Amino acid sequence: MALYAIGDFHLANSVDKPMDMFGSVWKNHEKKIQKYWNRRVTMDDTVVITGDHSWGRNLEEAGADLAFIADLPGRKILLRGNHDMFWNAKKTEKLNEIFKGRLFFLQNNFYTYQDYGLVGTKGYCYEGKDSYKHFLKIRDRELERLRTSFEAAKDAGYHRFIMFLHFPPTSIGEEESPFTQMAEVYDTSKVIYSHCHGKERFDDSLKGYFNGIEYQLVSGDYLNFKPELILR
Ligand SMILES: [Fe+2]
Ligand SMILES: [Fe+2]
Repeated sequence: MALYAIGDFHLANSVDKPMDMFGSVWKNHEKKIQKYWNRRVTMDDTVVITGDHSWGRNLEEAGADLAFIADLPGRKILLRGNHDMFWNAKKTEKLNEIFKGRLFFLQNNFYTYQDYGLVGTKGYCYEGKDSYKHFLKIRDRELERLRTSFEAAKDAGYHRFIMFLHFPPTSIGEEESPFTQMAEVYDTSKVIYSHCHGKERFDDSLKGYFNGIEYQLVSGDYLNFKPELILR
């Protein structure tokens, strides 16, 4: 039994979105995902997939991509990425109903692995793409969702946590943020995130140990689409 994480599959079974224009690592990336997943992950394992699952613009267009993920071995817990248009933030419960027993959607709730609470949300960092005021609004909403996730796990008796974000925990080049501070307040063991694509983005945020917490980047192209072992 093991816990793995990987993110940013950017699948496009129903829409025209060739990914190999972003570099050779993306060539036949769906086949690579399948190959490496099947080599590493067994039916007893759990994998947290940290967002940007599908280019589909709605649930219908994302259907084949979600079915591809659902058919991979193990328990799959999905986080919301910035490109996941199929996932209306207000309809997480509905998604959990539709995919009951096949996929588990993590937002304003939590899951567990051994004695760890698995908590998370999309997160947010400043990339200069919106106004600072708008950034703060989205960031604060995400912080509240993360707090809800932590509190739900705490109320259920969990005191050890692994925290998942889609966005990096800090803005580019920074070493702390309200997300890292919240990870510290709840005494989180690890913070796992993705979203960063291409060599020039892999060092955008924290990797390794900071204030006793281990930070790990698991974006698909960073891992060459091999699920990363988080806990055994
Ligand atoms: Fe992505
Ligand atoms: Fe992303």
